[in-house]
Amino acid sequence: MQQKLILYSVLVSFFIINPVTHAIQARSDKEQPQTGVSGTAVQSVVPVQTQSASSQQQQAGSSNTASASSVSSTFNPLGPNVMCSFLPRDFLECKEPIDHRNNATARQEKGYGCLRFGGSAYEDVEHTKVQCTVYTDIDCYGARTFFRDGVPCVRYTDHYFVTTLIYSMLLGFLGMDRFCLGQTGTAVGKLLTMGGVGVWWIIDVILLITNNLLPEDGSNWNPYV
Ligand SMILES: *[C@@H]1O[C@H](CO)[C@@H](O)[C@H](O)[C@H]1NC(C)=O
Repeated sequence: MQQKLILYSVLVSFFIINPVTHAIQARSDKEQPQTGVSGTAVQSVVPVQTQSASSQQQQAGSSNTASASSVSSTFNPLGPNVMCSFLPRDFLECKEPIDHRNNATARQEKGYGCLRFGGSAYEDVEHTKVQCTVYTDIDCYGARTFFRDGVPCVRYTDHYFVTTLIYSMLLGFLGMDRFCLGQTGTAVGKLLTMGGVGVWWIIDVILLITNNLLPEDGSNWNPYV
């Protein structure tokens, strides 16, 4: 009785599993030709697309030359060329803002430039204009060298806030944070007093977090970590 039961169950399971495996095989067999078909379909489609694209380009090129020959003197706002001064910063090579080192007369003479660098809040940062030139291979309309306004008077000299904060917390008793910021005088004092017997150590961490301990050279924290 038991043997019959086992035989029966084996037979049933075989009949159940066999079609399933066949189905899986069939599906996997089916899938391969399908991908092959789609691949060939893509291959057959792509040249058509490129052909149409190239013909479009040719059309665009012919219309481009036509418009360039017919309308060369006046700016056509619907035309393909953008005003050079409207181009985003990616297409321009801009000079660094001029540093007048707090010399107001020099700034007045020049008409632009920065008296002071640095600051965190937008209102605290001076803004000035800089001279920008469009890269040679970029096509645009108008003067290729112009002034762009609203450039912030900030600079970065590889000072990172998080790194300095970690230095301040772990090696503050050696004055390591202040050495890294370039404040050598106070750093030596901090080192000799072992971080002001712990008090200065804590105070400098608080100063860092509240943005009152900054790089000595007036640069900003590097935003690119
Ligand atoms: C400020 O700039 C003017 C013009 O460049 C210069 O003559 C003058 O000596 C400068 N003053 C200082 C204090 O550097």
